[in-house]
Amino acid sequence: TVSAEEQQFNDLIAADSRIEPRDWMPDGYRKTLIRQISQHAHSEIIGMQPEGNWITRAPSLKRKAILLAKVQDEAGHGLYLYSAAQTLGVSRDLMTDQLIAGKARYSSIFNYPSPTWADMGSIGWLVDGAAICNQVPLCRASYGPYGRAMVRICKEESFHQRQGFEILLELMNGTPAQREMAQDSVNRWYWPALQMFGPPDDDSPNSAQSMAWNIKRFSNDDLRQRFVGMLVPQAEVLGVTLPDPDLRWNEEKGAYDMGEIDWTEFHEVLAGRGPANARRLQRRRDAHNEGQWVREAAAAYAAKQAVKAVA
Ligand code: ACO
Repeated sequence: TVSAEEQQFNDLIAADSRIEPRDWMPDGYRKTLIRQISQHAHSEIIGMQPEGNWITRAPSLKRKAILLAKVQDEAGHGLYLYSAAQTLGVSRDLMTDQLIAGKARYSSIFNYPSPTWADMGSIGWLVDGAAICNQVPLCRASYGPYGRAMVRICKEESFHQRQGFEILLELMNGTPAQREMAQDSVNRWYWPALQMFGPPDDDSPNSAQSMAWNIKRFSNDDLRQRFVGMLVPQAEVLGVTLPDPDLRWNEEKGAYDMGEIDWTEFHEVLAGRGPANARRLQRRRDAHNEGQWVREAAAAYAAKQAVKAVA
């Protein structure tokens, strides 16, 4: 038998309505959301690092201002998402502790290095492009605070994607060395960007339940396919080659065939053995420790204000 509150939850999901923080929800629904939203928040925060790496070396004042704004946006995305997760009853401190202890997941993509300026282009075009593709459907996620956070995030991501495309376009219209740098960067980011969508559908343990709960709206493979379909014409405009010799239009399918993704590499990165995992986590730990005095000062100030308010 289903309790009245569970029936109400089921009815809201069946009607494609929203679940809000005060509504009753099954434990599994709450847990899945905490898992996905906290992982997503951590990704935004760790994701500041590959681009933060280039702020002091941006090739012009204009590029520096744009990059700075973009990295700040990512910090903001992390904050909206931590706030959304907090509405489910998990504390920000706990999520932070899990991240710096190396116990939390964040997107595989941020464990790759960004050795050249062209990587700022590829991250915008491919990484933020994949993020938009994955996140636009999340604007309709059944959990209200998550869906609403995603609306704003997606607007900002589309600016990020355009600025990345434009960096690559300028390099591709530049010298042979600049074109080579752009192509080399696309070669390095293309496959990891496809892995952002997660494991193949037949190896994705969370998908079926998340789709039944209207959290996910499309499967990992469907979104990946859609992303590749978006990239091909954009790559033509840029004049870059997507590094997949098996990529070709399949008339019958009405979609692109593509080469095999290296899932061994994906699982290695998830296990903490990617090219930059250790460095990313250490940087986050250091930043957290260096921020200790700020947290203490803020807490002391808040305590003082509270005494004043009572007096
Ligand atoms: N990087 C790291 N871990 C991943 C990735 C990835 N690219 N893809 C899947 N995983 C993990 C899942 O978190 C899950 O692990 P868990 O059970 O320990 O939590 C496991 O692999 C199996 O995957 P799925 O069953 O397919 O998991 P799920 O249904 O959660 O789908 C997905 C994964 C598509 C990433 C989903 O969680 C999602 O849409 N998240 C929101 C978007 C997001 O986090 N984006 C971050 C990068 S974009 C950016 O920040 C700019």
